[in-house]
Amino acid sequence: MINLMLTTCTSDERQAAVANAHDAQELHAGLGADDACISPKFLYDALGSKLFEAICELPEYYPTRTEAAIFERHGAEIARVAGLGTTLIDLGAGNCAKAAKLFPLLQPAQYVAVDISSEFTHDALARLRQRFPQIAMEALGMDFSNRFELPDQVRAERRLFFYPGSSIGNFTPEDAQAFLKRLRAQCGPDGGILIGIDLAKDKATLDAAYDDALGVTAAFNLNILRHVNRLVDADFDIRQWRHHGFYNPARGRIEMHLEARTPQEVHWRGGARRFEAGDCIHTENSYKYQQADAIGLLERSGFEATRVWTDPQRWFAVIHAQAISP
Ligand code: TRP
Repeated sequence: MINLMLTTCTSDERQAAVANAHDAQELHAGLGADDACISPKFLYDALGSKLFEAICELPEYYPTRTEAAIFERHGAEIARVAGLGTTLIDLGAGNCAKAAKLFPLLQPAQYVAVDISSEFTHDALARLRQRFPQIAMEALGMDFSNRFELPDQVRAERRLFFYPGSSIGNFTPEDAQAFLKRLRAQCGPDGGILIGIDLAKDKATLDAAYDDALGVTAAFNLNILRHVNRLVDADFDIRQWRHHGFYNPARGRIEMHLEARTPQEVHWRGGARRFEAGDCIHTENSYKYQQADAIGLLERSGFEATRVWTDPQRWFAVIHAQAISP
């Protein structure tokens, strides 16, 4: 049984990366909830971002390279369907590498790189401006997963949202629809979306992709506890936790959890909790869609799919969809 106690901790040992009030409150609520959880956004501190890059290199983690192969193979046709001279809005741009590969084909009029950590993206843009001086570029540092509004510097004409990497799968289907509707609202009549969505497949392939032999995914998931230790002065002992990532076919999603190996008490600034062996903290879901369901999701959100590209195994889909007039 879970035992939640509220205490006040001193924060003498605070380190540099302390959570802001909103993040601290979110962590406190999640750690104290009946079904404990930590928001997946805390996976991506500096080390977490590097570990995720390493995951993308793993033989088991097929999504990144499968999607890249689709863009590689069908890039010219994708550009024909999506059109040239668009306002290309890259959601979760990171190092901007995926979009930059498409620049020669898509030839956007403006490229807008949106990411939570804008510093990283700023540096990437500085280099891209040199390589593609004819493309106007903007970096926007914002969390677009909740509410967002594009500022005036973003051209209103022919907006094409670029949302690769199956990040849509990290929303629940309801939240995914709400998110896509918000994109639709920012589109204008001639807008569209180019989205990458991971497709449902056999459980063994999915299980391996989220629990690799080297343990890189385990390190990535466990690293969230290191990050939380820094953010809210928590005292998670990483060695007392194990990664648990598996496909839940009934819910059509990968679930990522951290499971307590031993009974223990964990403290953080403003709270504490007892975990029994086997208790879990939920860190992320990754929904996998049937192709028809992905198209249905887009349609319910105000988009009409114009074309779908997949790999020979039909493991991943890149979909272009056009905004439908409301
Ligand atoms: N967005 C990635 C995905 O759903 C994130 C991810 C990959 C992940 N492996 C993970 C998140 C392991 C937590 C744990 O594919």
